[in-house]
Amino acid sequence: LQEEVAECRRCSLSETRTQTVFGTGNKQADWMLIGEAPGQSEDREGKPFVGKAGFLLTEMLRAMGLSRDEVFIANILKCRPPNNRDPKPDEIQSCAEFLQRQIAEINPRIIIAVGRVAAQNLLHTDASIGKLRGGVHRYREIPVVVIYHPAYLLRSPLEKRKAWKDLQMAMKVFRDIGNNRK
Ligand code: URA
Repeated sequence: LQEEVAECRRCSLSETRTQTVFGTGNKQADWMLIGEAPGQSEDREGKPFVGKAGFLLTEMLRAMGLSRDEVFIANILKCRPPNNRDPKPDEIQSCAEFLQRQIAEINPRIIIAVGRVAAQNLLHTDASIGKLRGGVHRYREIPVVVIYHPAYLLRSPLEKRKAWKDLQMAMKVFRDIGNNRK
């Protein structure tokens, strides 16, 4: 799958990317985090969430007692949109199958949707992030918790409190699932 992604020419982002960003981490992870799309640093390094927002996301994981190596981190889009503009519907559509297959392969116990774009596309809704956060949703059978994007939290640090509340809720959901699935 990773090779297939690396060779993908399904949309025009393949013409402007430096490389694809497949995702990194544990391929049998219990926790899967899904963000929006690679930015400049990610496009350069070939890994998700390695810029400033990524640093904060790593800190948020650490506060939960998780390392980047034990979770799996991916994005809705595998290629950087030029100038970090929002992903276009046709790009999301072209890329969706890759994420579906990643989720099926990893079969995580819980998914964290990082930011509005990830949440709306995973959950097939146009509800606002303000509405989506704070509750537990489902992708197929898998519980999905929505959090504010760390890039937003860097601009609005007062919202970090809500993000931490959402992560604590995710930890509770995870504990309640128990150890009977894997
Ligand atoms: N923002 C995202 O949503 N994903 C990344 O990989 C980096 C920044």
